[in-house]
Amino acid sequence: MRRPWLAANWKMYKTVPESLAYAQELWHLLSDIKGWDQALDLAIFPNALALWPFAEKWAATAIGIGAQNLDPGTEGALTGGTSGFLLREAGARFVIVGHSERRKYFGETDEIVRTKTEAALEAGLGPIVCVGESQDERRQGETLKVVHRQVRQAIETLEPSHVRRVTIAYEPVWAIGSGLVPTPEEVARVAEAIRADVADLAGSEARDQIRILYGGSVNDQNLLSFFDTPDVDGALIGGAALNAANLAKMARRIMDRDPLMKSGQ
Ligand code: PGA
Repeated sequence: MRRPWLAANWKMYKTVPESLAYAQELWHLLSDIKGWDQALDLAIFPNALALWPFAEKWAATAIGIGAQNLDPGTEGALTGGTSGFLLREAGARFVIVGHSERRKYFGETDEIVRTKTEAALEAGLGPIVCVGESQDERRQGETLKVVHRQVRQAIETLEPSHVRRVTIAYEPVWAIGSGLVPTPEEVARVAEAIRADVADLAGSEARDQIRILYGGSVNDQNLLSFFDTPDVDGALIGGAALNAANLAKMARRIMDRDPLMKSGQ
């Protein structure tokens, strides 16, 4: 069974004190949602500088902590680099890989995304690999082709046992931060195709176990329309999760859902 997952990507927002204050408020709000920590995974992805203080206070709780990026490699003469091992030591348990902002502004290619996915797994981090088409690619009817290429490139060299530890976030580039969203049917179609790719590359167990998130202008009003599609297990949320009350509201919406967990075919 796949547990639902809400992941809050804060991007380059929030100072360290602001991050800690948010977590305190979130914890307080979540305490009103009975049994959330037994049924729902929830993780915050703050700035890397906040990981250590954040983990010191919250690592022992059910609030998960992840990083927004890593550099491949373990150590070496790589000025400015931050390895998965350093992130893990600082308290991260997950890491976002290949977010479209990194692909666009930092020149991350499919090849780099693959090496980062491998490096994350080697460091013991659970990678969330982001895939998704641009507006132009969508207009040209290339959504499935682009997603197929990005998924394959990211995971095709991995052992099936490693593939199971990967999460894939379908984030159409045009939906990120725009207030625009695909229809639930479009998301369902892409998520189904991603699962078929995973089956092809790593077998049916991996297909049934891997979690798929939807991301791009998710808020507490539209969250369930995506979560209710069979292959989507949760959401990667940017703007709407910058506010603790909003994230708690989304956690409550998922918790009110029945059934909560999803299984393979
Ligand atoms: P958004 O961002 O929710 O603000 O659209 C999502 C993301 O970039 O992961």
